[in-house]
Amino acid sequence: MNRLEGKRAIITGAGSGIGRASALRFAQEGAAVLVVGRSQDNTEETVAMVRAAGGRAAACVADAAAEAEVQAMVSSCVAELGGLDVFFANAGTPGTNTPLLEQTVDEWNEVWHVNVISAFLAVKYAGRHMTAQRSGSIILTSSAASLRANAGSIQYSASKAAVNSLAQTAANAFTGTGVRVNAILPGLVETKMTRKVFEQARERGKEGRIGHMTPMQRAGRPEEIAAMAAFLACDDSSFVTGQSYAVDGGVSSTHPHGRIAL
Ligand SMILES: NC(=O)c1ccc[n+]([C@@H]2O[C@H](COP(=O)([O-])OP(=O)(O)OC[C@H]3O[C@@H](n4cnc5c(N)ncnc54)[C@H](O)[C@@H]3O)[C@@H](O)[C@H]2O)c1
Repeated sequence: MNRLEGKRAIITGAGSGIGRASALRFAQEGAAVLVVGRSQDNTEETVAMVRAAGGRAAACVADAAAEAEVQAMVSSCVAELGGLDVFFANAGTPGTNTPLLEQTVDEWNEVWHVNVISAFLAVKYAGRHMTAQRSGSIILTSSAASLRANAGSIQYSASKAAVNSLAQTAANAFTGTGVRVNAILPGLVETKMTRKVFEQARERGKEGRIGHMTPMQRAGRPEEIAAMAAFLACDDSSFVTGQSYAVDGGVSSTHPHGRIAL
């Protein structure tokens, strides 16, 4: 499918995990992708993978939560790829599992800065460009942890709930402009961020138990989140804005304690 033919997309956090899988999927569907990451090696590796698969991509090493750098990444996407149609604000950080009563403002600031401010800056600078051209799709990576407790650190859950709210409020702020804003809420997916959980389960011979209480009875793959991102990026979702979509094997639909027998 070439649903993104002719589109130009920025993807942050694209040096690994969900962002990398999305760069590959977007390019496979015809988009030219500005691959944004913090590490030069990882960012260039994603670009090389996209090119090896016959796609078009350029690398950009930048901090997705630094205002001047986000402004510059929009400008370089326009200069290098000829425009900007999609901004996938996907960079994120998990925070620490310090007990709640011991947590510090610095720990909260760190998570808030990366997870919320990066989403805000994507909305601000992609929004300026896209409202002027009267079209565009902004996609924010939130988390299933934004909906319920115990799927991430406390700061992380709160920060991702703010991201869901931003998808709603920004979509409404862009009323009548043709610019859409949506959030994706992944469940547990094996990436750099969650590798420890999977490695520990494997060491104990308990890999099969990961996700076993969810309707799909497994963890997700980065490609499955990328597929939702590609849908929200393309014109198949032209009537979709202000929404938060869980891609989580159904975990957010249930209280994972027991199962009703069929
Ligand atoms: N893996 C999961 O189970 C899961 C579940 C729900 C949500 N998420 C979210 O998915 C997104 C992608 O994470 P992932 O799972 O692919 O993990 P990952 O660690 O592979 O990817 C996160 C990427 O973000 C980058 N990053 C962090 N801070 C940055 C910054 N300031 N500027 C630019 N890049 C920055 C990291 O370098 C990394 O490449 C994150 O927002 C994460 O919170 C992941």
